[in-house]
Amino acid sequence: VLPKHIAIIMDGNGRWAQAKARPRTFGHIKGARVAKSIITACAKKKIEYLTLYAFSTENWLRPANEVVFLMTLLRRYLKKETDTLVRQNIRFQVVGDMNRIPTDILKAIQYATEITKNNTGMTLVFALSYGARQELSLAVQKLAQQVQSGNLLPSEIDESLIQSNLQTYSMPDPDLIIRTSGEQRLSNFFLWQAAYSELYFTDTLWPDFKDFDLDLAIIDFLKRKRRFGKIEEIHENSAH
Ligand code: FPP
Repeated sequence: VLPKHIAIIMDGNGRWAQAKARPRTFGHIKGARVAKSIITACAKKKIEYLTLYAFSTENWLRPANEVVFLMTLLRRYLKKETDTLVRQNIRFQVVGDMNRIPTDILKAIQYATEITKNNTGMTLVFALSYGARQELSLAVQKLAQQVQSGNLLPSEIDESLIQSNLQTYSMPDPDLIIRTSGEQRLSNFFLWQAAYSELYFTDTLWPDFKDFDLDLAIIDFLKRKRRFGKIEEIHENSAH
């Protein structure tokens, strides 16, 4: 069974550009083009959810000019591609700390979300200014407030209640998480959601990642035996 939800940590733009003796921004431009191609490829394969980790909470600490460039790229991307999302019947959503996103980009995000919200094809999620620990901290705050106001007992806090207070509450957990560029770590991405995700690492840098590389990742996924902690392979390759 194909993964229902694929999440990708798009890494290696900077190194790709540096290897070509070009500025890091050149890598981000190519990276955005690759993102577009992979979005279309996933939609064609009828993947239900695709999450792209586009900007982490830690990325704010990069040199100001790179942050500004990434925001400019995002602004341009949203302006240009919102129509494409509509045409491809893709539903657009974001997760992350939107308080830190510049107002005009936030407006473009809200517009894209609103105009695609009834689309019935793939759901495309941009993780922007996203950090899993921050997401979990906010969920804990919300639950603590409910306890304080007397609407919740501490003993009532269980996995499903935590899950329903995450920004990803409406999404299935990722079945497959891909990270490019040879780094083998999650870097504060989907820490809760990745409990049973299959992880796939490739040395390919994100700007070199082709539709074919996506196929390789999916083929690898299809070979895995998913047991979800159980002994028997009751649900091979399908989260329930
Ligand atoms: C990782 O490469 C990439 C990012 C931090 C930004 C991701 C952005 C894009 C793919 C382009 C923008 C996308 C959209 C959808 C507008 P890196 O800079 O960490 O590379 P490095 O590890 O080689 O330094």
